[in-house]
Amino acid sequence: MKRLRFLLAGIWLTVAVTVLVAKPVDDPASLANIKDVRITHLDLHLDVDFEKKVLRGHVTLSLNNLTGTDTLILDSRGLKIQKVTTGESGQPVQYSLGEYVLHLGRPLQILITPETEMVTVYYETSDDAGALQWCSPEQTAGGSAPFLYSQSQFIEARSWIPLQDSPGVRMTYSATITVPKGYLALMAAENRQTIDSSGIYHFEMPQPIPSYLMALAVGKLEYRVLGERAGVYAEPALVEKAAREFSGTGKMVKVAEDLYGPYQWEQFDILTLPPSFPFGGMENPRLTFATPTIITGDRSLVSVIAHELAHAWSGNLVTNATWNDFWLNEGFTTYFERRITEATKGRAYASMLTKLDYDGLQAAVQRIGPENSATALKREYGARDPADFYNWIPYVKGMFFLRMLEEEFGRRRFDAFLEDYFKTHRFQSVTTEGFLEYLREHLLNNNSALERELYIREWIYEPGIPANCPVVSSPELERVANNAKQYLEETDASVIDTSGWTARHWDYFFSRLPDTLSMEQMAVLDEAFGLTESANARIQREWYQLAIHSGYGKAYTAIREYLLTVGRISLIRPVYRALASTKVGAARAQLIYESAKSGYHPMTREAIERVLGP
Ligand code: BES
Ligand code: ZN
Repeated sequence: MKRLRFLLAGIWLTVAVTVLVAKPVDDPASLANIKDVRITHLDLHLDVDFEKKVLRGHVTLSLNNLTGTDTLILDSRGLKIQKVTTGESGQPVQYSLGEYVLHLGRPLQILITPETEMVTVYYETSDDAGALQWCSPEQTAGGSAPFLYSQSQFIEARSWIPLQDSPGVRMTYSATITVPKGYLALMAAENRQTIDSSGIYHFEMPQPIPSYLMALAVGKLEYRVLGERAGVYAEPALVEKAAREFSGTGKMVKVAEDLYGPYQWEQFDILTLPPSFPFGGMENPRLTFATPTIITGDRSLVSVIAHELAHAWSGNLVTNATWNDFWLNEGFTTYFERRITEATKGRAYASMLTKLDYDGLQAAVQRIGPENSATALKREYGARDPADFYNWIPYVKGMFFLRMLEEEFGRRRFDAFLEDYFKTHRFQSVTTEGFLEYLREHLLNNNSALERELYIREWIYEPGIPANCPVVSSPELERVANNAKQYLEETDASVIDTSGWTARHWDYFFSRLPDTLSMEQMAVLDEAFGLTESANARIQREWYQLAIHSGYGKAYTAIREYLLTVGRISLIRPVYRALASTKVGAARAQLIYESAKSGYHPMTREAIERVLGP
């Protein structure tokens, strides 16, 4: 069975690589010469040194020289290069590291010939590699062993592997990772489920993937099966809780397949990371990385898993060609995620999430500016780090764009269109313009009047929210809004009926309150629901902002603790922002940040420093 799968993967691979190579696209976020030469396979050999906090070893790249160029230019940032060789024989060749280019790193230029098929780079990472977080034992659930993980998206893969760091280039990979004895090494590849006493782990990734999906984690981990093709890794202290929270994952995979065709990555596992992980989830193929803050006991945040699963189609299978086309990854995924949620949790629940997103979109557009090009789907980042521009627009505006099409053409037709789109472009990358062409041909019937009527150009290229954005309502949330209103009128917590409330209901409840409450209003809420002591990070995020704006001092110790523990950017940045909005608060934020900083992933640090200033 395994061999057959491998064979099949090999066939896809040939098809995919041939198609891809035919259409190289310029990527302003990469210094690599991807139009001249392409990496097709990568063989990685790394030793993990927890003491020095470096990865050390070499990588062998298989090349397809398209233009007969004599130079291979790779992306790199902070890497210490020791030697470069070519071919099987390991003949040393000339190379040079170019000047540092702001945001992008240093080009590694290697002398090759049109016949060169293989290049090996010997290197080590620096201790401030942008992708890597070396967690101390105190940052883990067990508290006794360190933990390493990577986060390569957007352009951090180059900080731990010299490669062509562009989403338009796909490669298969194999890897050998050596770790101290007693640790489990995992990659976004075929994984072992138990610790190997040798400390040496081999990985194969037979499906071609873009560099931003390269991922590695090392820790003291256990595995639990969640279904035929699904499972979860977590530290022993957390693994049972994680398995309970994510028990619906196997079913989700089936639901997703029923919507848009076969799951192409064989296995769907989840890795639960330490709370410093900067994102909710990351769609590393075969092994989604997830924040432990979604383990709430009530499965109210498993939509993050649905989201990362949806990326197995939109993103990992069909990939945005450059980061300017990021909405093709996230907008499609958010749409797909909601469809999975609708199928697993029902329409009312899905509408509730969509209503929250609708309000979130309005708020984001207001905050960024309805005329600001940062609210357009297609972006032009130029030679910048896309992380500097990261916001929710591509997610939610992208989702509503697809929802608008669904409403216009009917679910049956639209689903068939999407399934074909994924199938036609599988293991390829797509530009916004490529998608538009496909849309015209396969859904709009090349009818330009209809295209104008649907505001297709406005949706994709213009800022703001087009007039035909679907409107959503949620009776469930209307009840929450009424509760909030009544509470504000009567300052009586017993008018709030929280039975059956999830973190989402609380989100909406808080959104219906003014920016500040009186001390009495705060105290009444806190006493009734224990909000300051909540263990649900989403409730904490909302409550702490309210506490800061209202000057509710009782929450400050908890706020500090929260900011010292959680590293998920979207959970802590709003709290830092709230603090930074007053002079006293800003000083307090700076103090907390100084203590918290060493426990944050480099991406979190960057995001918070942007809020707090230098
Ligand atoms: N791929 C993203 C996370 C990401 C985006 C990492 C950009 C680095 C740069 C992931 O799929 C994602 O969108 N995560 C969301 C989940 C949410 C929308 C359900 C998150 O982390 O908040
Ligand atoms: Zn996503």
